[in-house]
Amino acid sequence: MQVDGATVRNSAENIAESALVELDGERVVVLGPGYFMLHKPIGVVCANSDPEHETVFDLFNDEPYDDLHVAGRLDLDTTGLVLITGDGKWSHRVMSPRFKCEKSYIAILPEAITERMIEKLEEGVMLQGEDTKTAPAKVEKIADDEIRLIITEGRYHQVKRMLAAVGNSVSELHREKIGEIVLDESLQPGEYRALTEDEINSV
Ligand code: URA
Repeated sequence: MQVDGATVRNSAENIAESALVELDGERVVVLGPGYFMLHKPIGVVCANSDPEHETVFDLFNDEPYDDLHVAGRLDLDTTGLVLITGDGKWSHRVMSPRFKCEKSYIAILPEAITERMIEKLEEGVMLQGEDTKTAPAKVEKIADDEIRLIITEGRYHQVKRMLAAVGNSVSELHREKIGEIVLDESLQPGEYRALTEDEINSV
């Protein structure tokens, strides 16, 4: 095998995606791990398989990538941005609270949001059954019954449990942004596209 004109005999060699790779004089296309965004509809589950519900991977065409997984699940009844990749280090940077990657949600609430509720969410709240407070969140009031909530962790049902902890709850939840990656408004629910180089490198 030739990589940028030099002979490489070790098949475990790390090859840059930009490299010119040739085998027996023919150009070979080197596939990266794959990076996608998907607009998740209600009723679709973020799992590799499920006995009952359609999964995000059922919405995928046959993509020629190994180890594709979801970088941060959404609940069955949550809509919006889901990132899918085969790159475990990249998804770790998206998901681990250590990297403080912001996830932005729009939540529709059954009860009006109060200033006191906003203060508590911004300070961090104790979730039922846990012994550490959530990291401080950013909250923007859009209407009496609608907020933008930005969090850097991904605890189980975190947004719903945070709103419950301040005496409200969530009737609809949508994720619009992860880090610098914004859900592409041209994607209809159920559609996906590959991430751009800039989007991949922003994480
Ligand atoms: N928080 C929730 O409660 N549900 C989600 O789907 C995502 C964040």
